[in-house]
Amino acid sequence: MKSLIIFKSIHHNNTEKIANAIGFVLQAKLSKLSEVKPSNLQGFDLIGFGSGVYGASLDKDLFTFVNALQKVNDVNAFVFSTSGGGEEKNNWKLMDALSKKGFNPIGQFACKGLTTWGPFKLFGGRNKGRPNQTDFENAKKFAETMKNKV
Ligand SMILES: Cc1cc2nc3c(=O)[nH]c(=O)nc-3n(C[C@H](O)[C@H](O)[C@H](O)COP(=O)(O)O)c2cc1C
Repeated sequence: MKSLIIFKSIHHNNTEKIANAIGFVLQAKLSKLSEVKPSNLQGFDLIGFGSGVYGASLDKDLFTFVNALQKVNDVNAFVFSTSGGGEEKNNWKLMDALSKKGFNPIGQFACKGLTTWGPFKLFGGRNKGRPNQTDFENAKKFAETMKNKV
């Protein structure tokens, strides 16, 4: 099974760390969003898309990238994110955008990540030490479920 993970992680590399944990299990190729072209998506059985949450949304460039893709035929995909709140609902909009492009979204993962954004920097940050060992274990378990679904 060939897997690709595309991510954007600009605040504290939180999402990149989760991408690495998922990618380790899937033996995936990891690509920064800024380095990937639509043609690079060809030939993969499973593609993961992830970013931090910035202003209540996954990174806007991720949406621009997905919305500009040509339609695919039932390629398995998943979405992952890290954020201050760690809620899965942050992933829903990108899952939807992927469906509209013909992807088959088979799962999503979310966890908390350190943030020093806005007022949090005054207190040394929120979610110190996150993602932590438990988050990485959960990300790896999630990757196992993705592997079993493809
Ligand atoms: C400009 C900015 C806006 C953010 N907005 C939100 C937000 O709306 N909701 C939230 O839960 N976290 C928010 N965060 C926290 C980040 O989502 C969190 O730190 C995330 O783990 C960053 O991922 P990264 O290190 O991969 O970039 C924000 C952080 C930044 C820098």
